[in-house]
Amino acid sequence: MGRFLVTGGAGFIGSNFVHYLIRTTEHHVTVLDKLSYAANPASLAGLPTSRFELVVGDISDPGIVDQLVRSADVVVHYAAESHNDNSLFDPAPFLQSNIIGTYTLLEAARRHGTRFHHISTDEVYGDLALEDPARFTEATAYNPSSPYSATKAGSDLLVRAWVRSFGVAATISNCSNNYGPFQHVEKFIPRQITNVIDGIRPMLYGAGNNVRDWIHADDHSRAVLSIIERGRIGETYLIGANGERSNKDVVELILKQMGLPADSYDLVPDRPGHDLRYGIDSTKLRNELGWAPEYADFEAGLDATITWYREHEAWWRPQKAGTEARYMAQNNTSKKAPRTTP
Ligand code: NAD
Ligand code: TYD
Repeated sequence: MGRFLVTGGAGFIGSNFVHYLIRTTEHHVTVLDKLSYAANPASLAGLPTSRFELVVGDISDPGIVDQLVRSADVVVHYAAESHNDNSLFDPAPFLQSNIIGTYTLLEAARRHGTRFHHISTDEVYGDLALEDPARFTEATAYNPSSPYSATKAGSDLLVRAWVRSFGVAATISNCSNNYGPFQHVEKFIPRQITNVIDGIRPMLYGAGNNVRDWIHADDHSRAVLSIIERGRIGETYLIGANGERSNKDVVELILKQMGLPADSYDLVPDRPGHDLRYGIDSTKLRNELGWAPEYADFEAGLDATITWYREHEAWWRPQKAGTEARYMAQNNTSKKAPRTTP
């Protein structure tokens, strides 16, 4: 039994990981989360107080970070500003949380000799051509496109440097796009599901041909725990479930599963710098650690996710109007986005 410190555990993937740990292990879990707009403490409701606590604080605050990292056996670092569209509007919080926050945690892990697992994204590798048979591997060169992916790439490189120069016992995982319960309504799949519930037509950026490689959040959680338990220190593992789908395919499936004609969506102006395609080759993870996804059927997983959003309107409703208002403001000002720093 160990003491896990999970940063960003009130967000989408972090909260799924916390539930996974409580369900399948006997570990004690402390979440450090600043409860940004992206967090929802309701995602952690009902967890046993004997094994779980939520500490509200910022990962770039050295005081609270030092105190929590000192008393943990392992840090699992999910906390980040995570939404590409927001990073195009105002990159400053991405620099602060993703770079300075990761640096602050690494320094504490270095001081206290704490095992560290860094959660990252396949977006650090840039994008692939639509018809290219190639997929990302651990050897693919970093080539991020957006402020979000650039700051995640920077945080990965900090982790690698702290392993090599200071001997921090860290591993890194880069995962593809996640779906499942507790995902904020700003993200593609929940945005479209909740739009349909609200009678709004789904919105596809550009022609809808961009491809994402979908994985269920539970499969991501199992992969992360296997890397923490059995991964080699200093190594990077790519996590993906062979789930490549165009955005148009996904929206058509959502519409069909929700009982609407498959073409009742609108094409809207494209995201600047929009990555064309992500695709993960997770051979290393599968061969070394014996991981394989349990949600092999994307359509069934998507159906379960639609049901979850239908049954948990109280969870997402408070964020819905504000999220759509934010999109509206960003679209109206995207050419001259206000920034919080010069
Ligand atoms: P999310 O936006 O849903 O949650 C992020 C959480 O981090 C929130 O609870 C927020 O309050 C917290 N946080 C942000 N900045 C913080 C700070 N400075 N101090 C303390 N807490 C802070 O994000 P998510 O989609 O769950 O992503 C989690 C991690 O997984 C991120 O590191 C992201 O880069 C990575 N990732 C996400 C995906 C995906 O499909 N969403 C895929 C691969 C990797
Ligand atoms: P998103 O969930 O923002 O994840 P990421 O940018 O990290 O891949 O978007 C997933 C895909 O869906 C991406 O290609 C952008 C596209 N998208 C739309 O077409 N419409 C939308 O309303 C949103 C939010 C995203």
